[in-house]
Amino acid sequence: MREMVVFPLLAPLFRSDQWIVAFNQLFSRYNLHAVKIEDQYFDRKITILTGKSERVARDFPEGAISRGALRMKNIFTGIAYRLTSLILNARYRRDPPEKIIEPVGIAQGDIVLDYGCGPGKYTVAAARLVGEFGKIFALDIHPISARQVRRLKRKHCLANVETITSDGETGLADASVDVVLLYDIYHILKNPAMILEELHRVLKPGGFLSMSDHHLREPDILEGMQAGGLFKFDRKAGDIVYNFTRVG
Ligand SMILES: C[S@@+](CC[C@H](N)C(=O)[O-])C[C@H]1O[C@@H](n2cnc3c(N)ncnc32)[C@H](O)[C@@H]1O
Repeated sequence: MREMVVFPLLAPLFRSDQWIVAFNQLFSRYNLHAVKIEDQYFDRKITILTGKSERVARDFPEGAISRGALRMKNIFTGIAYRLTSLILNARYRRDPPEKIIEPVGIAQGDIVLDYGCGPGKYTVAAARLVGEFGKIFALDIHPISARQVRRLKRKHCLANVETITSDGETGLADASVDVVLLYDIYHILKNPAMILEELHRVLKPGGFLSMSDHHLREPDILEGMQAGGLFKFDRKAGDIVYNFTRVG
């Protein structure tokens, strides 16, 4: 029997494990067994149920994902990522990244990490500000982002942009970055304390982290960002951006 993927499009509805238990009870007579596939980025939003034959379930025990299910997961998260990109593009038309980033304080020659860069519009805006002697590391968890950024890099002839695909570790040296951009991602992070530690590690003493997140209220931003004692609020840069200095 072949593995089959069940209800991928209804998956956002199936957030609770009880659905999986219920599914397994209902369909066990057909030799189908549902497993939950989580995605590092989307797991707060998406649970994909795959119905497996008993044999496939045995060959791919809990935690392991068969090739078919993995392919399905990639297709599904790819669609979700592209939908996010469409929404972001609409927002960029309303609030152009070049305008938002202008008062942030990025200087010529700066090394910038754009953490959770998505389609890379802030990456391009920052690349122009730092000029040919600066550098932008554009990091995102999703591989589609790296492709989008590389496309923009070619289109705008930017030699100073490098992509990183990661969900946390940047691979950058200690104290090697002047500015970190953390735009519209903080609310998504499953473990913000761990990410902030990494961003603190790579920032140079005297460097700063520029943050914005329209999903959060100002008091939550200030509290969340300063909770670990690694960053201290410095100033607002425009209406929606908050700059924090690196403590220590
Ligand atoms: C809403 S988009 C924001 C994109 C961009 N910063 C902007 O403001 O236009 C959030 C991005 O964060 C990425 N992301 C989510 N979790 C991540 C993680 N743990 N590490 C790195 N990137 C992550 C997503 O793939 C997505 O591209």
